[in-house]
Amino acid sequence: MTAPAIIAIAIAAVVVLGALAFLTLARRSDVRGAGALSAETVRRDRSSRAARADAAEAGSGRSTRDEVEAAGVRARTGPSTEVVKAADTAPVTWSPPDPEALGVSRRQFLNRATVSLMGAGIGAFAAASFVGFLWPSATGGFGGRVTLGRLNDILDGIDAGGGFFYSSEARTWITRYPSEALSTAQELYDPQLLPGMTAGIIANYQKCPHLGCRVPECLSSQWFECGCHGSQYNRVGEWKGGPAPRGMDRFPVEISPAGDVSVDTGTIVPGMALGVNTTGQEAEGPTCMGEAG
Ligand code: FES
Repeated sequence: MTAPAIIAIAIAAVVVLGALAFLTLARRSDVRGAGALSAETVRRDRSSRAARADAAEAGSGRSTRDEVEAAGVRARTGPSTEVVKAADTAPVTWSPPDPEALGVSRRQFLNRATVSLMGAGIGAFAAASFVGFLWPSATGGFGGRVTLGRLNDILDGIDAGGGFFYSSEARTWITRYPSEALSTAQELYDPQLLPGMTAGIIANYQKCPHLGCRVPECLSSQWFECGCHGSQYNRVGEWKGGPAPRGMDRFPVEISPAGDVSVDTGTIVPGMALGVNTTGQEAEGPTCMGEAG
């Protein structure tokens, strides 16, 4: 899966998670507003109940006096036998209040506004992080297309560097690819690499496929030799020895009609399998890390 596809999926996941969090919190806010009492209301309710209890306690003496007086009246007049019938009234059917009529309380409004602003802030931050730091830049910088210069200048740079041209911006070693090996390479190599190889160069990613160390060139052997665990690769990045699981990874090279060379560092083409040796190049002198394994 390509890096843009992974990033697009990650952005979609963040957006979906944000929406779920927003809906969940908004739903909770609704439920609390419609059916539950706030802490402040519960507090007021408790204190009013306590006040009523106090008043009842304080008025218990008067109740007793009232009862004594009522008993005296009953004793003088005799018990009343008249029963007063209550007036007929139709039962009132209860209907729930209309949520629309209730409106939105200040608390609900503040809750929803807070959740909305938090969701928008988190979403904007996530999007800015992805766009700013993870999305490969379309031009310039590692992760995008890096322009190295004119082909002739790069070939001169390879010769001046003893067979190796290094671009720190592209984190790439550029070396010559021999034309006599092209017919073999066309059967084995990824087609994305062939335009550059046909023009006579190949871009080798500096990161060792074993555990990721930066692989330096060895001028005496004319190979790449990793100082971490001793993996060795020939001048075009094909495995020659050591614990690496494959040859050096590559970047596609593009050469414009005007002769400008650019390297697509957003596309890493995995190195060739162990045993692939299209150039047949052996060590041209003492190796820097010892004998090839
Ligand atoms: S990292 Fe290069 S050989 Fe281990």
